[in-house]
Parts: sequence; structure tokens; C-alpha cells
Amino acid sequence: MQEIDFNKLGAKFSPSEKKGVSLLEDTDVLVFCPGISTCGFAEIKMALQNKNRQIIATTLDTKGFEKTKKIIEQQGLSDQIRVKIEDVTKPMAYNDNYFDFIYARLILHYLTKQELDRTLTEFYRVLKPNGRVFIVVTQL
Ligand SMILES: C[S@@+](CC[C@H](N)C(=O)[O-])C[C@H]1O[C@@H](n2cnc3c(N)ncnc32)[C@H](O)[C@@H]1O
Repeated sequence: MQEIDFNKLGAKFSPSEKKGVSLLEDTDVLVFCPGISTCGFAEIKMALQNKNRQIIATTLDTKGFEKTKKIIEQQGLSDQIRVKIEDVTKPMAYNDNYFDFIYARLILHYLTKQELDRTLTEFYRVLKPNGRVFIVVTQL
């Protein structure tokens, strides 16, 4: 497949996005991205890094959801990136010990303390025992 020109698509990767995506290892196959990145660009990078990777990316933004889904389809990555409307503060529909990696950049700061407690408890439940979570709460 032709290499994606992210500049042409208007993607600007911040240092923390680059860092988060670079932390993924080949063994990180199942990835959860609550609060998908703008146009799904970070998730697209994650998918391109590893053809076997499966990414579930969620949002509450219905307009962003449609736009992002279209871009992902255009890139031929719908089989690797599933975009869903889903609230991270609600009980998660994923099995225990399911994900290898959770990429939670610029989402947890929206939550109340109670929501945050619930969400982190769910992260712990759905992450594999050696799973890792990347959290960013300040724009960098
Ligand atoms: C700052 S934006 C993008 C964050 C993205 N991870 C990034 O790195 O650029 C925040 C995103 O989080 C989503 N969001 C906010 N609260 C949410 C919640 N409770 N559950 C799921 N998504 C949420 C918004 O819809 C938006 O897509």
C-alpha cells in the first residue's frame, strides 16, 4: 500500500502523541484508544506500524465519529481500526485481561473524580497482566 502523507492529510503530531505511539511494541496487538485522536491519525499510525494490530477507538463526538470513520475507510484500515461511540466512564463491554495497551491521551482530564476512579478500575480490569497504559492529561 502507498505510504500515507500525514502532512497532506493535515495531521500535526505533538511530542506526546509521537511518544505514545512510539511506545507500542510488536507484541501490543490489541489496543484500546478511548477518545480517538483528531481524524484518527494516531490510531492510523498505530495500525500501520503492525498489520496484525487491532484497535478499538471510541468517542462521544458523533460528527467526529463519522469523519474519522470515513478517513479510516479511505486509508483501507477499517479492518484494523474499529471506531465506536462509547462513553469511557461506563462499564466496558470488554473481557477481563483483554487489551495489551491502552492509549488514553487527553481524555481523562474531562472526568470527575468518581468517573476517573471507575474508569481506571475498568482499565485495570480490561488490561492484560503485563499490559500498559499511556496517559496524558496536559497538552504537550
Ligand atoms: C481532546 S480530544 C482528542 C483526544 C485524543 N486521544 C488525542 O490524543 O488527540 C478528546 C476526545 O475524547 C472524547 N471524549 C470525551 N469524553 C469522553 C468520554 N467520557 N468517553 C469517550 N470519549 C470521550 C471526545 O469525544 C474527543 O473525541
